[in-house]
Amino acid sequence: MTYDVTVIGSNMIELSTNIDRMPELGETVAAPKFHMAYGGKGANQAYAAAQLGSKVAMISKVGSDMLGREYLKHFKESGIDVSGVSIGKESNGVAPCFIQGNMNSIIIVQGANSELTPEVLENYRNIIKDSKIIVLQQEISLETDYKAIEIANGYGVPVMLNPAPANDHIDIEHVAMCEFYSPNETELGRLTHMPIKTLNQITKAAHKLVDLGVKNVIVTIGSRGALWVSKNEEQLIPSYKVEAIDSIGAGDSFVGAFVHYYSHGDNISDALKHANAYAAVTVTRRGSQTSYPSANEFAKLKEKLGIKELVTA
Ligand code: RIB
Repeated sequence: MTYDVTVIGSNMIELSTNIDRMPELGETVAAPKFHMAYGGKGANQAYAAAQLGSKVAMISKVGSDMLGREYLKHFKESGIDVSGVSIGKESNGVAPCFIQGNMNSIIIVQGANSELTPEVLENYRNIIKDSKIIVLQQEISLETDYKAIEIANGYGVPVMLNPAPANDHIDIEHVAMCEFYSPNETELGRLTHMPIKTLNQITKAAHKLVDLGVKNVIVTIGSRGALWVSKNEEQLIPSYKVEAIDSIGAGDSFVGAFVHYYSHGDNISDALKHANAYAAVTVTRRGSQTSYPSANEFAKLKEKLGIKELVTA
């Protein structure tokens, strides 16, 4: 295999403004701080896996503007293979984020990400075929995700679909073609139309997807951890307790770390423990990609935070 992990998905420049309050419609307010950073769910997941040492390929569309050029450079500098990254006609995707205390409100402007059409994937069949696992999210069109699932299935390459942001129009038959489906509890509730208030309810909803054909459902349940449900398994992998200061991109770090460890031979349960630990470390640091440590830093930070994964492998 040429690639441990191939991510097909979005890249966005985060335009983050710390605000004291949101302006009313028609009102202008001053804000104390602004910064730009590399983000987008797909790129974040690719970056996390690369930081941990995976050989990662990205299939994505950057914009034809200054932001797109910068993102392409950033991918290369991060050691991510960009043979599947092309330049679109539109400007780069951006994500204006408004940060108030511990809460974020994010607007997504797809930009060139909308040009990552199913047809584009035909150019990159070789990358998909030569990957140990494909990772998808929902910041690109669902049709492109479906095409990626179909191509990967054709080559027997497993797919992990992280259904964020939630999209009620997702086709359950394509979800059922994935080896891993990793919603948070809200996304799970929206797909299954089942209650998801208690752990018992979440487990039942996850089983519904398993019955429909998904091999492994991994539900991220915030500070409670990750619930793994398959035909023969039902495991809650508890999260690690840390002092969180910024949770932006934490879900993406979890996915990127999981596929890194899984593609390196960990069993699912162990890969989830490592992914929980990685996500816990990232919430103690600011930003999304800026909070993702390298493998060495990760080891040091775990020690500092008293995190020890009790893995079998
Ligand atoms: O999951 C976090 C990401 O969502 C941010 O990087 C932002 O770009 C949005 O896409």
